[in-house]
Amino acid sequence: MQSIFINPARSRGTISKNIFGHFSEHLGRCIYQGLFVGKDSPIPNVNGMRADVVQALKKIGVPVLRWPGGCFADEYHWEDGIGPQEGRKRMVNTHWGGVVEDNSFGTHEFLELCNQLGCEPYINANVGSGTIREMAEWVEYLNSAGDSTVVKKRWANGRKDPWGVKFWGVGNESWGCGGNMRPEYYADEFRRYQTYCRNYGDNKLYRIACGPNVDDYNWTEVLMKNAGRFMDALTLHYYTLCGDTWDHKGSATGFTTADYYKTLVRAARMEELVTRHSQIMDRYDPEHRVGLIVDEWGAWYDVEPGTNPGFLYQQNTMRDAMVAAITLNVFMAHCDRVVMANLAQTVNVLQSVILTEGDKMVLTPTYHVFDLYRAHQGGRQLDCFVQSDEVGEGDWHMPQVIASASEKNGVTTLTVANLSDREEAAFAVHGLNLAGARGRILHGAFDAYNDFASAPLSVQPFTGIEGSTLRLPACSVVEITVG
Ligand code: AHR
Repeated sequence: MQSIFINPARSRGTISKNIFGHFSEHLGRCIYQGLFVGKDSPIPNVNGMRADVVQALKKIGVPVLRWPGGCFADEYHWEDGIGPQEGRKRMVNTHWGGVVEDNSFGTHEFLELCNQLGCEPYINANVGSGTIREMAEWVEYLNSAGDSTVVKKRWANGRKDPWGVKFWGVGNESWGCGGNMRPEYYADEFRRYQTYCRNYGDNKLYRIACGPNVDDYNWTEVLMKNAGRFMDALTLHYYTLCGDTWDHKGSATGFTTADYYKTLVRAARMEELVTRHSQIMDRYDPEHRVGLIVDEWGAWYDVEPGTNPGFLYQQNTMRDAMVAAITLNVFMAHCDRVVMANLAQTVNVLQSVILTEGDKMVLTPTYHVFDLYRAHQGGRQLDCFVQSDEVGEGDWHMPQVIASASEKNGVTTLTVANLSDREEAAFAVHGLNLAGARGRILHGAFDAYNDFASAPLSVQPFTGIEGSTLRLPACSVVEITVG
């Protein structure tokens, strides 16, 4: 029989809650309409933030939110987004859809959103088209309590106390939309910019350097060699495509089972990427002082027909639920190096957890995976070995079942996914007594999705625990808790 072996005596350490983080950019309808509608909107809101969306995000325990980009970050000038709304600068979002950005969502609004969500802010600042002074003054505006002109501006804008923002990104994709830099040049820029990002009071900035695109191992090598000692973390970006080119990424819905397995196998490549970038980091940082942050990940398909190509709006199916389960498993298995990850992007953009249309909201299958994995946040990772058959089609094969386990406050959580599009999986669990175990499940057809007319996919009680065996329906993600 296929088996899952849990060994509580072996652990890679604590699973950072920030591995379950999210990303929200000024892109399409992520911020505007998705998270923020403004105080005067007929859509119910609290200080401009959509009440339904905030409530749903709180339920999955969003630990950290990255903002304002993405590529937008290196075109963003923070002073355009503070002060009275009517005086805020209007610009054209040249990167994303050519629409007018009125800067009505700025620093104060972002931090209000984080406050409502109860999450940590992660601000990604502008290196590509910004100045060192601009970045330094943003940190001062956010974190200083001193009696300076910059701080007085914050007071005048209604905020007396510093926010104490900790997670600080110095540029985004500096190898591409963030300035097309070479790694040697960016390493020097990072050293220079971060020098002037001061720590104020007790708040110690966590300095995040722009890391590699996918498998650019040379970028990691050069950054770690030349700037490793100045950074707290290095980022990695990897998106899962189904199609073979950026012009043909594949459709988010209406795909074949071959496309399904191809996408999952590509998502599983995260294991190789994290392993190989970590190996390079290990050579320069054997103590694991520098974290790896995968601050953009997820499935990227062709936009929904009829939508603005620059808005990156796509549907989200059970295939995406599996992409999320596969990827989160990789991060948890590498929790001794991966300290944060941010799914792209929270609402209405790429692999969203939430879709909105006017005042309507839909929770995607990916949302439900984050719900099922929530208990792993801050848990002690437990060694988990799966002996599984393979599933797949054509050139695309992988293990049928994947699993992760952790322990927190005397409760053990096991999450298991059956990736098969058609076959049930019966698994014997070793090393965890399932007597008294409780379970929850998300399952559906491999191409099923929730939309505004009908939302058939949701988390349900799981009834497939039979003694020490788990009976998992095809295409399912299950959470088991014991204790
Ligand atoms: O998430 C969409 C875009 O993908 C981001 O703006 C950019 O950083 C990446 O290329």
